[in-house]
Order: sequence, then structure tokens, then C-alpha cells
Amino acid sequence: MGYRVAVVGATGAVGREILKTLAERQFPVDDIVALASARSAGQEVSFGEKRVLKVRNLEHFDFTGWDVALFSPGGSVSAKYAPRAAKAGCIVIDNTSHFRMEPDVPLVVPEVNPNDVKKAKRGIIANPNCSTIQMVVALKPLHDLFTIRRVVVATYQAVAGAGKSGMDELFTQTRGSFVGDPAEAQQFTKQIAFNCIPHIDRFMDDGATKEEWKMAVETRKILDPDISVFATCVRVPVFIGHAEAVSVEFEEPVDLERARRALRDAPGVVLHDKREDGGYVTPVEAVGEDATYVSRLRIDPTVPNGLGFWCVSDNLRKGAALNAVQIAETMIALDLLGHHGQG
Ligand code: A2P
Repeated sequence: MGYRVAVVGATGAVGREILKTLAERQFPVDDIVALASARSAGQEVSFGEKRVLKVRNLEHFDFTGWDVALFSPGGSVSAKYAPRAAKAGCIVIDNTSHFRMEPDVPLVVPEVNPNDVKKAKRGIIANPNCSTIQMVVALKPLHDLFTIRRVVVATYQAVAGAGKSGMDELFTQTRGSFVGDPAEAQQFTKQIAFNCIPHIDRFMDDGATKEEWKMAVETRKILDPDISVFATCVRVPVFIGHAEAVSVEFEEPVDLERARRALRDAPGVVLHDKREDGGYVTPVEAVGEDATYVSRLRIDPTVPNGLGFWCVSDNLRKGAALNAVQIAETMIALDLLGHHGQG
């Protein structure tokens, strides 16, 4: 049996990746609709190699009879339309941060907490922040072994996380620097080309940014409420692919070989860790790939039971589109999809 699938925000960076991922993974689709704003209604987007979908206006769309909707149109748009879709009986998997911390909305990474999809009482499941997803995929097998107490992480986040306009800004500023045009900061607060900006999302009262706060609270919701996370999130001039330098303190003594084995066997993780020139994975190499790559695994001797590593993943794929599609696949495996929206 196939499903009736809606993709909301289908013209955006994540929406396009969702369409690509659904097609690549041969998600069982009976019917599919691409939705965006009135601005792009009538435009065409590709679904796989062969099909083209005409974009329809979200505003006038009736979700009755649709099984699942994958949303990535921005927080305020999801806030308005996701409950509307869920009320019509369509399961919503939302990529924005709007519903993530609501207690009756599960926040799911299928390799970590797949069974939480059963708790979707409101018909909405949230997809975590891109930086959180890749980190918890790598942390889960280590937590199972030695129990994590504290995580300190610095991120190196690609501009694709800021949407299509973020990618355009890096491109324009980079080109501008060669032809002598002054770099104009629009979406980002400072020049992003050839620079690093320690500021993603808005500032909170304690001096952390909301992106940093998200990494802490989302990790606790997905993995374990007892873990503390201190994050510094940095935007870097990379188009696609987030990297993270992660330092972990565990309850129990760490055995490097057991950690290595667990990461090698963990779903969604590829351990690529050779202690030689080039023996690690960088964002450019992770583009278009599904895995979270772990490299530079080593004992941190400066704290009791410490371990450090570097992880990299395609933020548009595992960080967004792929994880959302995997949530839908998890619901199919648990026989939770297709009982809604039958009109
Ligand atoms: P549109 O192209 O019509 O503006 P990105 O994060 O890459 O910028 O993409 C955002 C996505 O969300 C786009 O597909 C965009 O469509 C869509 N979107 C933005 N605002 C709305 C809205 N009010 N209603 C429906 N879709 C929206």
C-alpha cells in the first residue's frame, strides 16, 4: 500500500531535498503534492529523475485524505498550518523549531528514540535541529556504554542551514570579493565569505544563542534528561555540511577500543578515523551522504572519563530531509501511518 504525501515548503532548500530523498528511498507514494507560498504557486519542482510537480498554494490546501505532510516552510508558517493539517487527520512531520519542545510533540531521531513516534497524540512529530541530530546519532552508542554526564561542543555550521538565501549570500559575497564588489551582509550579521560568525539564531538572556540552547534542550529530550550540554554554534563559509568538535564526560571509565567498536556498529554512523594526513571526514565529503561521520576519536585526559571526537554530516539530509523521511518510515514500520486522513 502506498501513501498520500504532502511536502510543504517544497521550493526551499530542505523541501527540495525531501522530494529527492523520498524518490531515492522509493518511499511508498500513491499521491504526492508540493506546497509553498502563493509566490511560487504554478512553478515546477522535480520529484526524482522523471516526475515534475506543479507547486500549489499552501493557503488554500485541504489536507483531508492525506496521510503525511513533511513541513519545512519556516516556524511561523508551520505554527499556523501544521495544526490545521493534523486536525484534518494528516500526520505532520515538522522541520521547524516551533513545536520541538512542546511536551505532547515527540522529537525524534530514528536511530536514537524511534518509539517516541507512538506518543504523537496531536498528530505532530518534530524533527530536531540539524546540529542536534548528528550529535545525538554519534552520542547514542557511547551513552549506552559509559553514560554521558556532560557534553561541550563547538559547531562549524554550513550556510545551507539558513536556507536558500543563506547559500546565495555566501555565493554573492565570495564572487564579489573577486570582482571588487563590497561584501554586503543581509541574512547574516557580518560578512560570511572568508569569515566565521559565532552567532546563529537570536540571543537569549543568559548570553547563549537560541541555536546553542536548542542543542542542549533537544539532546536532553531525545537522549537523556540528565545530560548537560554547553554549545558554541558558529556559522562558517561552507555551503553544505555541518561539522562539530565534541568533548564528552562520562559517568564510567572510557575504553577507547569499546567506543570504537560501538561507533562502528551503530546505525547511521560511519567511523572514519585514521591517525594520518586526510584520515578524517570533512563537510565537503559528507554532501549527498546519509551517514554521520565520526573521526578524530581520542581520550581527553584533561577531565575524568573524557572522550573527544569530530563529527560531520550533510545538514540538509540527515540534519533535515532524511531524518524527516526516516520518521515517516519508522511510522510505517510501526503501522502508525495511513490510518488517518481516510476522509
Ligand atoms: P516560497 O518559495 O513560495 O517562498 P528556504 O528555507 O530554503 O528559504 O525555504 C522556505 C520554504 O518555505 C519555501 O518553499 C517557501 O516557499 C516556503 N514558504 C515560505 N513562506 C511560506 C508561506 N507563507 N506559505 C507557504 N510556504 C511558504
